[in-house]
Amino acid sequence: MPNIVVVGTQWGDEGKGKVVDVLSRHVDAVVRFQGGNNAGHTLVVNGEQMVLHLLPSGILRDNCVCVVGNGVVVDPRVMLEEIEELAGRGRQIGPDQLVLSARAHVILPYHLALDRLREEARGDARIGTTCRGIGPTYEDKAARRGIVVGDLLDASRLRARLEAIVPDKNRMIVGWFNGEPIDIDDVCETYLALGAQLAPFVGDSVGHLHGIQRRGGSILFEGAQGTFLDVDHGTYPYVTSSNTVAGAACAGSGVGPTAIDEVVGIAKAYTTRVGSGAFPTEDHGELGERLRRVGGEFGATTGRPRRCGWFDVPLVRQAARINGLTRIALTKLDVLSGLDEIPICTGYEGMGDTFPDALDNAVPIYESVPGWKEDMRHCRHMSELPASCLRYVAHLEELIGVPVELVSVGPGRQETIVRGDLFTR
Ligand code: GDP
Ligand code: IMO
Ligand code: MG
Repeated sequence: MPNIVVVGTQWGDEGKGKVVDVLSRHVDAVVRFQGGNNAGHTLVVNGEQMVLHLLPSGILRDNCVCVVGNGVVVDPRVMLEEIEELAGRGRQIGPDQLVLSARAHVILPYHLALDRLREEARGDARIGTTCRGIGPTYEDKAARRGIVVGDLLDASRLRARLEAIVPDKNRMIVGWFNGEPIDIDDVCETYLALGAQLAPFVGDSVGHLHGIQRRGGSILFEGAQGTFLDVDHGTYPYVTSSNTVAGAACAGSGVGPTAIDEVVGIAKAYTTRVGSGAFPTEDHGELGERLRRVGGEFGATTGRPRRCGWFDVPLVRQAARINGLTRIALTKLDVLSGLDEIPICTGYEGMGDTFPDALDNAVPIYESVPGWKEDMRHCRHMSELPASCLRYVAHLEELIGVPVELVSVGPGRQETIVRGDLFTR
């Protein structure tokens, strides 16, 4: 079986969780390699919905181990809550199912406070972050003043690190923002207790993954966010604070690039974005509102309405290049049922596609293709799709230049058409 990286090709929420859940039936490990609980990955299995923020989307499968890699930033409370929620639904997660890297950086109360205070201070220029402390935690990692999961298992080390870090944070929180100071004793006590609860899961994630590789097992790398939220390749500064592209799978997990066999890009059949920043094909009118309503486009993490618009070919083509996509999974096609015509953005007026800067002022050039009326959620083979829908898929495939491996026609695990030979070749 191949080792596969799965990434979002747009601005997140493309349906990565659903597709990873579908694909994870065939693999031995699913690894998150970047981001944190800014992600919200939705799985619908037997009519039951589960939103995962931190645990990999293979967590409902018995055949694979889930790994939270070194590149992830971890809010210990959120991880424990997710484990507890699964237990409440009858799925007990033990150390055989979940490995948490001792080297993953920890989101602490001052990261949460600073994320919120800075967003408030930005006013209209706010990024629209999820306020989960993601940016401030990655800042500290790069500045070499972070706290890693392993530190939560060592009381004297944790205290020493906090004593070196917290006074500076309080100067910012209290001095600049007039916020509440952080108390070192409180943080120490709380986070040691959280560390003790997480301890059974903490381990050498890199060694674990290499062990799976040695035994001939296959690994699925689950990206969070999307290509244009990448801190290097996205619509900076309206991005997240990690590399979200396929290349990050290696650094964030400790598996070398020569091990990657396939890169699957998840593309929604239209486009959405949460938070501020460029979005050339955004539809502010009735049709955009219809996409939001029919597609249920409200954030899985913050509940915010997602901005909605049309499929942007140059954007996804650029994602194909940056990520080295070998296949595409096209999701939420069913949401387009009932439209007379479907606009597709095939280029931008007056400029080449110099990404990502062109996006700020890009005026899209649209081509309209015929829509279809039929409901398609029952379709399980390409041949069952309405003729216009097949033409839409074939047209996108040709314009992007990457084969469509999988088509999703509903949120449920079964509402999927697997077309290619990813797992049978
Ligand atoms: P992710 O962050 O990429 O995992 O995506 P989210 O879970 O944040 O958002 C995708 C939303 O669309 C979720 O509510 C999914 O249940 C839903 N979804 C996924 N695939 C499909 C699909 O093919 N059709 C429909 N109607 N909904 C889908
Ligand atoms: P999944 O994995 C959509 C967006 C936020 C904001 C920007 C920075 O579910 O696709 P951050 O909290 O990361 O500092 O916010 O990035 N953002 C997402 N948008 N899906 C996500 O994750 C996102 N994670 C972050 O809305 O614009
Ligand atoms: Mg999401």
